[in-house]
Amino acid sequence: MEEEHQHQHHHEQLQPGMHPSFLRVIQQKQRVKQKLSNIKHKIGVYSAKGGVGKTTIAINLAYSLMKKGFRVGLLDADIDCPNVTMFLGMEDKMEPVLPLKPIAKEGVKIASTAMLVDELKRPIIWRGPIMVKMLGDFFENTEWGALDYLIIDLPPGTSDNPLTIMQVLDLDGFVIVTNPQKVAGLNAIRSGLMAKRLGVSVLGVIENMSSGKPSKSTEEVVKALDTELIGSVQRKAEIAEMTDQGRVHVLEDSDLRRAFDDIVSKIATG
Ligand SMILES: Nc1ncnc2c1ncn2[C@@H]1O[C@H](COP(=O)(O)OP(=O)(O)OP(=O)(O)O)[C@@H](O)[C@H]1O
Ligand SMILES: [Mg+2]
Repeated sequence: MEEEHQHQHHHEQLQPGMHPSFLRVIQQKQRVKQKLSNIKHKIGVYSAKGGVGKTTIAINLAYSLMKKGFRVGLLDADIDCPNVTMFLGMEDKMEPVLPLKPIAKEGVKIASTAMLVDELKRPIIWRGPIMVKMLGDFFENTEWGALDYLIIDLPPGTSDNPLTIMQVLDLDGFVIVTNPQKVAGLNAIRSGLMAKRLGVSVLGVIENMSSGKPSKSTEEVVKALDTELIGSVQRKAEIAEMTDQGRVHVLEDSDLRRAFDDIVSKIATG
């Protein structure tokens, strides 16, 4: 897989006669790389299936890393259905001047398109190509400063937006989220295989909404992606309730804090 990774990068050199759209992706990737060069690690939280808990996991990972003393940013890359600010009970808006400045909440810097537009009154409804352009612009124009970790909350699906994120962000890798159900597992496998094909590593799998022992389906995901189960988070009504109240689980619940510290110890190399 490492070979595959290098192979991809090898082809990402500017070459004369290259197709313009390919050229555009490479140039954009270079601009984003430059912009994010002060960030040591970029970790995406992904699953093609909606509602498995990507946003919940991304937020708790970010706050666990912050509690360990790292400088952390949280990028809401779900630009048409941004949930991060809602989950954090934030109503702050970013100054509409470039470069955009993330807003800190309890020690974690946050950037979301929900901080730019009043998206509940005027939801973002764009077709793929415009969305992809917007996503690239958002990455290129956000000024994070120096960070140890940037956690990226991905949208569901395997089409335009996740694809652009995989192509443009030069991630350390993905944490793949699944739940005990077979349908989540199958989509998690799809997600991980897509990532690998695009040269993005899979750092591990988290079973969210777990009932204890990992399900057969989750074990199959781990096997199919040739990776590890790096954690599980129980299904608990209080988790959803706290989210609705804009509270961060790991800042208040010691069991969840332990569960996430365990995950962090497996993915955070410093
Ligand atoms: N372990 C859990 N126990 C109970 N409820 C949970 C748990 N994890 C997440 N939830 C709830 O499930 C719902 C979906 O979670 P979340 O929004 O994090 O998923 P998502 O994968 O980001 O969804 P989307 O694909 O829409 O972005 C939320 O209402 C959340 O509060
Ligand atoms: Mg989400």
